[in-house]
This record gives sequence, structure tokens and C-alpha cells, in this order.
Amino acid sequence: MDSCKYILDCKDITKQYGGILALKDVQLRLKKGQVHALVGENGAGKSTLMNIIGGLVQPNSGTLFFEGIPYQAKSPVEAIHAGIAMIHQELNPQPYLSIAESIFLNREETYKKIPILNKKATNEKAADVLKKFDINLSPKIHMEDLTLAQIQMIEIVKAVSTNARLILMDEPTSSLDSEETERLFRTIRDLQSKGVTIVYISHRMDEIFAVCDSYSVFRDGRFIGSGSISDVTKDELISLMVGRVVKNIFPKIDCSIKDVVFRTEKLCGKGFKDISFEVRAGEILGITGLVGSGRSETMEAIFGLNPLSSGKIYLNDKEIKIRNVRDAMNKGIAMINEDRKEYGLCLFRSITENISLPSLKKKHKGILINQKKEREACGKIASKLRIKMANLKTDAFSLSGGNQQKVVVAKWLMDRPDLIILDEPTRGVDVGAKAEIHSLMCQFAAEGMAIIMVSSELPEVMGMSDRILIYHEGSLNGEVTRAEILSGEVNQETILRKEFGER
Ligand SMILES: Nc1ncnc2c1ncn2[C@@H]1O[C@H](COP(=O)(O)OP(=O)(O)OP(=O)(O)O)[C@@H](O)[C@H]1O
Ligand SMILES: [Mg+2]
Repeated sequence: MDSCKYILDCKDITKQYGGILALKDVQLRLKKGQVHALVGENGAGKSTLMNIIGGLVQPNSGTLFFEGIPYQAKSPVEAIHAGIAMIHQELNPQPYLSIAESIFLNREETYKKIPILNKKATNEKAADVLKKFDINLSPKIHMEDLTLAQIQMIEIVKAVSTNARLILMDEPTSSLDSEETERLFRTIRDLQSKGVTIVYISHRMDEIFAVCDSYSVFRDGRFIGSGSISDVTKDELISLMVGRVVKNIFPKIDCSIKDVVFRTEKLCGKGFKDISFEVRAGEILGITGLVGSGRSETMEAIFGLNPLSSGKIYLNDKEIKIRNVRDAMNKGIAMINEDRKEYGLCLFRSITENISLPSLKKKHKGILINQKKEREACGKIASKLRIKMANLKTDAFSLSGGNQQKVVVAKWLMDRPDLIILDEPTRGVDVGAKAEIHSLMCQFAAEGMAIIMVSSELPEVMGMSDRILIYHEGSLNGEVTRAEILSGEVNQETILRKEFGER
């Protein structure tokens, strides 16, 4: 009975989706109180295994033991009853539920004698839980009114408040900034001290080395190995994941920076004020700041998703007005949004259709789309970004999270805009493909595109930007250059301090 040694023991798990073998005979063994990293490239099968343990998906074969007893949850509710909670990679909040209803879904307070929802008690309980996590939100707010980061925090609170003995965290920090991530880490350490076991999935190596004590690696649906974090280096772990050496994580190519392409003058709107900056052809302008500091809000207003209350925008020296997204696109501005499902991806269209959607108009000189050309171009970019898929006709929804993100990036880069705004472009993308996206960005910059990259991942912004603007509470609080970073004059801490408001 060596299964008793492990709180969770998954043996020979296989899962097939149509023609795709998502998992083949994988194992995952966890000891009580471990924070165990599950790592692997996009499409390696990590979420699939989490979904099996969490009761959302049934395996084709294999056995699971939880606390020494055979375990197979048929639904998420069954998993929660067994003591297993999950934070999902793809956030799918029910928009009309309040925060309280969302946290206690299927566990609501009812009146003693009649099984009717006791709203007041549920709200009070939720307020307690939120307070415990230092989250300053009313439990009555609807989920649809929250930002992605807030939704993610609520998901975390929800999972932790079930008092589960095993918590599966599938990319819990993909929408969080450094402060919220640190808060999650404190929660994880606290849970660990109480004997709770955690599976932690992330593509951010820094996080894995900060919070995990052991790891398992999957590659292409297979188990590659496991061990103790203190026995590996980041590079070794990356090589295990990708099966080859990734030489340069941030392959920044310096290219000549030319004329100003885009300029703003004192932009004001909801969440930001007096934002003036410029971007030049060939330049990658990094933008960072805590979530809610106004960076994404400014970019959304520039792209016509939200109104500006005042300020001016110039593209190629001409003042332009952007009333909506179509306006922005017609004028040569493209944007990859934080929330790929809202604006980026048509989940039920094929990969080819998704990639070529924005550039169709340009190719449409005649009435017929040149399908062969379109397929060729898509195939090229898909293989460059190593999009893992059955074929280009597959619907986007069947792709793993990171592969969906790659499709969105491919789609906009193919459009060749004058200015592209990338908001968290490599969110959930594995290290190998991240390097590919970064090198594509450099390539397009070299061809004269102006690029704005918003990212919470400091190593990424610092590695890729020619210049970085730092936001604090709706305003710009400083600018640093690549030269200052390369000389060591500016480091991660300098930037973080500015994010927190130091001058
Ligand atoms: N519902 C589904 N239908 C068809 N194929 C699927 C489905 N869900 C996952 N797959 C496929 O199974 C494989 C494993 O996907 P999975 O989501 O487990 O990867 P992952 O390791 O979580 O990747 P990522 O890091 O991108 O989140 C992928 O090739 C994916 O396309
Ligand atoms: Mg996944």
C-alpha cells in the first residue's frame, strides 16, 4: 500500500480527445503539505489532469488514490465534498451572480427549516471571508463588474474557503500583479503550515522557485520526471519541459529607432489622468504598474474600448479621433487585450479563420479570398509559434490556454498595423513560445512597427523594452531606458518602488 505515503497518487492516467492524446500513462504523486509545481509547455496536459482530479473530465484509463482510498469524482461538487478544490485556468465567472453567491455556489446558507437561500447570511459569511483576505469589495457586487484580477482573487478565495485538503491552482497568478501575487504566496505558505497540499501550475519560473518545494514535468502528454525544487536550476527545469535548450529567454534585437509614430497629449479618462507619451517606429515601449494603476485602462481608451474624457492622440503626426474599435483598426492601431476571450478569440471558429480575421479586409482585393495563400501564411505562423493542434481547421476552443493566446498574437501580428498594443501578450504562454513571440515582436519592430507592451512580469518588460513607463495610481511615475537597465543603474527593485509610488 505505498499509496498511503501520498495524499494523492495518480497512476497511468490516459485521456484522449478525439484524435489528440492529451495524456498518456502519466503519474502525479503528492505528499501531504507539499507545494508541488506541475510544469510543461502549452498543451502538455497539465490542465487536463487537473480537470480529471477536479471532477470535470473523466479519464479513459488509469487510477487515482486520494488519502489512500480509490478516488474518482464525477463532478466538481463531488471533488469539493471529497476535500479537493480547484482554481481554474480559464476564468468563467457567472456574470449575474454576486461575489457572495459566487464564493458559496452550491454551499449557500439556507434558512434552518426551509431550503431557501438566506441572502443575508450568505452575504455576511462572504464579507467575513473577504475581510480575511484583505479584499476590499462588497459581497453584493456582481461578478460582471469585476476586473480580471479581481475575478481571479475571488476564485482563489472561493477555493481556499472550502477548507479543502488539496487545492489545485491552475495558473492562479496569470492576471495578478506583483502585490497580489505576493499575497497569494502568503496564503499558500499559511495553508502549507496547516498541512494543506497544493498543486501549482505556472509558466513563470520565478514563481515556481519562490513558492514550490517539489515538481513534476509533463511533455506532450507524458510524464517526464519529478523531484525536489532545491535539486534543480531554472535552466534544468526548462530543458526538462521543452526537451531542448532554450538559449535566450528574452531575445531582444536592438534595431534602429526612427520617427515618432504615435503620440498622446494629456489623456484623461476613467482610472488615469494626464498621460503623455510617444512611441517611435522600431521601438518597443514597455508599460508597467500594479493592476488597477490605469495602464490597461489607458490602452483600452486609445483602442476605442472606453471613452476618453480629454486629451489628444496623434498618429503619424496627424491628430486622430477614435470613437470605437473599428475606428482604431481602420486607422492602423491594433491591440491584444488582457482577456482573450472577450475581444481576441472566436472560440468556435477554426484556427485559420481566427488568425486571418483582422487581415482579411486587406487581402480582399478581389471578391474571393485566396484560400491557399491564407492557409499557407497561417500554417507558417502557427508552426513558428509551435501552436499545438490537430490541424488548422480545429476550433479554437479545443486548444490549451497558452495555445489560444498564441493564436491571438498571431492574428494581430499578421495584420501589420502601424501601432500594436500588446496587453500581457505572453500571459499563460510557455517559455519556448514566449521567446518566439518576443522574437516576432523584434522582427516587426525592425520592419518599422511601433509596439507598446503592457506586462506585469517585470523580467519580461525589462528584457524586451527600449523604454519603460511606470504607472502609479492613474498617473505616470517615471520612465527608465534600456541603457539604464543594461548598465545596472536600474533594477527590478527600482521599478517596483516606482510602481508603489516612490518618486
Ligand atoms: N475539450 C477539449 N477538446 C479537444 N482537445 C482538447 C480539449 N481540452 C484539451 N485538449 C487538448 O489536449 C491537450 C492538452 O491540453 P491542456 O489544456 O491539458 O494543456 P496545458 O498543459 O494545460 O497547456 P497550457 O499551458 O497552454 O494551459 C492539448 O493539445 C489540447 O488541445
Ligand atoms: Mg492549461
